[in-house]
Amino acid sequence: MQTIPERSYSREDWLKGYQSQPQEYDYPITSIQGTIPSELQGTLFRNGPGLLDINGIPIRHPFDGDGMISAISFNNGTAHFRSAFVKTEGYLAEQKTGKILYRGVFGTQKPGGWLNNIFDLKLKNIANTNIIYWGGKLLALWEAASPYRLDPRTLETLGLDYLDGILQPGDAFAAHPRIDPRCELDDGKPCLVNFAIKPGLSTKILVYELSFEGKLLRRYEHITPGFAFIHDFAITPNYCIFFQNAVTYNPVPFLLGLKGAGECVNFQAGKPTKIILIPRQPPHLDVRVLEVNAGFVFHHANAFEEGNTICLDSICYQSLPQIDPSSSYQGVDFDTLDPGQLWRFRLDLTTQQVNSELLESRCCEFPTLNSDLVGRSYRYVYMGAAHNQTGNAPLQAIVKVDLVTGDRLLCSFAPKGFVGEPIFIPKPKATREDDGWLITIVYNAKRHASDVVILDATNLATVAGLELKHHIPYGLHGSWTPRLF
Ligand code: CO
Repeated sequence: MQTIPERSYSREDWLKGYQSQPQEYDYPITSIQGTIPSELQGTLFRNGPGLLDINGIPIRHPFDGDGMISAISFNNGTAHFRSAFVKTEGYLAEQKTGKILYRGVFGTQKPGGWLNNIFDLKLKNIANTNIIYWGGKLLALWEAASPYRLDPRTLETLGLDYLDGILQPGDAFAAHPRIDPRCELDDGKPCLVNFAIKPGLSTKILVYELSFEGKLLRRYEHITPGFAFIHDFAITPNYCIFFQNAVTYNPVPFLLGLKGAGECVNFQAGKPTKIILIPRQPPHLDVRVLEVNAGFVFHHANAFEEGNTICLDSICYQSLPQIDPSSSYQGVDFDTLDPGQLWRFRLDLTTQQVNSELLESRCCEFPTLNSDLVGRSYRYVYMGAAHNQTGNAPLQAIVKVDLVTGDRLLCSFAPKGFVGEPIFIPKPKATREDDGWLITIVYNAKRHASDVVILDATNLATVAGLELKHHIPYGLHGSWTPRLF
């Protein structure tokens, strides 16, 4: 019998990190443990739900929370913090009236029961999932709608952005763009690859490839039978790789106003995942579809080509619980849920066979790597992880896995700290893959405030801890730009 390790956290502490943060801030960070490296120059942008309630009425799931941007700029050993809500149409309307006016994808309903929600299919673009600086624009992303553009200096919301006509009003643009650092189709220049999903009885996957200046280089599409829930994807020099998880979708409770759209997705445990490989080379026609039992995947770490084999590293959940309309995320029992674990899939394009290997069994999420190796063979992956080696728990540590030797390093913030996604920043003139820093935002329950923590990516030693004056609710994704704002 497996022994359940002692809890590394308390529920009360974990829940406090989900309190709303309605305040916006702008101040130099003065409470610093350690030293901010003077070579660390640039801006870290983060996105995530800032509000977990509307005027005191709790939303049903953090994924339904209004997007709040944090910007931490580093300059000559100093740091400055700024935060602002994305002033979406929905945010402004709900703040003005103090009422929930929209249904959330993950179950938030307007007050008044099903009669007040029936056939209301209007969703709020909450712009809360990721934020990127690309093509000279700062863009807050949410996968079911167009991006919102913000001023990178002030974080003032400038409005919906259609990428200079690449998107039409109503078009989606996913929250997981991948940047090919040296695109072979464009003379080795960097290129942003992103997708959009058009749901229906069949699902259309649209792929956009944009130049560094934000111009459209390639746009192509593929239609796959059935419903698809696709949050993330992976790229190699020659392929875009999508996992079509084994799910079914019954929209009736959503249409009747009983459930959010996201609550109508049913995971089919034990059924195979379809792996869809779309060629990036025009004419993009030789699409391959392989199958594997992978559980449920939100996030991929990276993919790369080895001859006619593609390696793909992904975080897999053996099962996914049904979102229960009668219970809230606050009541989640971690011990009854399957942890996310890092797997490697080897896709043999000659035999169509897929081989799976468990790389890291510790509960983990938010994989990241040195961005220079996106789509290439790489050695190190960094993730948020649980403090204990076994069981499911909130993320309280950063883990570094050496994919060549299998060595692991762990930097834990338990029992009072809860981590978010790490971001890797290379040192100037770095020659080794892991010669850089990792930055993550840690919710520190002891202070009920968040710390911006800088780790040395080589040994996971703490370089500096920057104490913010307030907490930031647990975030989703973010990105780094060497531009100083
Ligand atoms: Co994500």
